[in-house]
Amino acid sequence: MEIKTVGVLGCGLMGSGIAQVCAAAGYKTIVREVDETFLNKGLGRIKKFLDEGVAKGKVTAGARDTTLGNMSGSTTFDALKDCDLVIEAIVENLEEKQQTYTALEKIVNDRTIFVSNTSSLCITELAATTTRPDRFGGLHFFNPVPLMKLVEVIRALTTSDETYQTVFAFAESLGKEPITAPDRPGFIVNRLLVPYLLDAIRAYENGLGALEDIDKGMTLGCGYPMGPFTLLDFVGLDTTYYIANIMFEEFREPAYAPPPLLKRMVLAGRLGRKSGRGFYKYEV
Ligand code: 3HC
Repeated sequence: MEIKTVGVLGCGLMGSGIAQVCAAAGYKTIVREVDETFLNKGLGRIKKFLDEGVAKGKVTAGARDTTLGNMSGSTTFDALKDCDLVIEAIVENLEEKQQTYTALEKIVNDRTIFVSNTSSLCITELAATTTRPDRFGGLHFFNPVPLMKLVEVIRALTTSDETYQTVFAFAESLGKEPITAPDRPGFIVNRLLVPYLLDAIRAYENGLGALEDIDKGMTLGCGYPMGPFTLLDFVGLDTTYYIANIMFEEFREPAYAPPPLLKRMVLAGRLGRKSGRGFYKYEV
């Protein structure tokens, strides 16, 4: 199936990055947010990233203008009526996602493929809330979306071969490197990354070393771009806590159990970069 027009639900950190890469790849891209404030903030983030790319010599002014020209924003579902593919990147809440799919299914045509960028919810369960479980899959991007090459393509139990192949080819057309991941909590990357991050917190709680030394150990000793605490702050402690809980609930293995310190930091509102404080302090 040919994809020409792409809808993106949600213009937060992930949704704005996803909309940007779709528009940059030449797709007519319509991004939908719940209100003008969120929409303008998200569109502003895209423009800022592209402007910085021009200033760094990574993006030409022409490419920036073409990308922005391929994109439009809306607060209505109606604006998505001609989309061949809709990428959902709203809050990680099953009920809200379900309500959004139901609203959208009244607008789009029967052939439209839906994918979710969820990092933790069950794709088969999401697919089952729609009238198109065969035209539903997972497309999991990584933050920062315009810079990270990887995308995980997830098949629900019900995803048709045609949908899977279309979504995989679409991910490649964005200039990304797709991998096929199973519909299991954490898919491939978070299944390995989250226990590592939780382990770093447990080790820190047990007095392994200073935050900075553990981070330096993993960046300079292993060549990781960020140490575990810098990465935890970058991903968001609430996000990590949420994913860990879902993984623990499914597998019941201690490796996925969120450490007490993580829970308390989330309860205290120390969510990482976005809140100005996580393991480190930031200016917001
Ligand atoms: N436009 C275009 N290019 C840009 C740019 C922009 N606005 N800003 C930066 N770049 C380019 C830079 O020029 C540079 O290019 P080069 O390698 O050719 O020189 C490259 O992007 C890296 O940028 P910087 O040099 O400014 O920054 P860093 O070298 O510090 O890299 C980073 C930043 C890419 C975020 C790196 O620190 C990194 O990879 N961190 C790990 C991120 C990570 O693990 N993400 C996944 C999180 S898990 C997830 O998302 C899953 C979810 O479910 C939780």
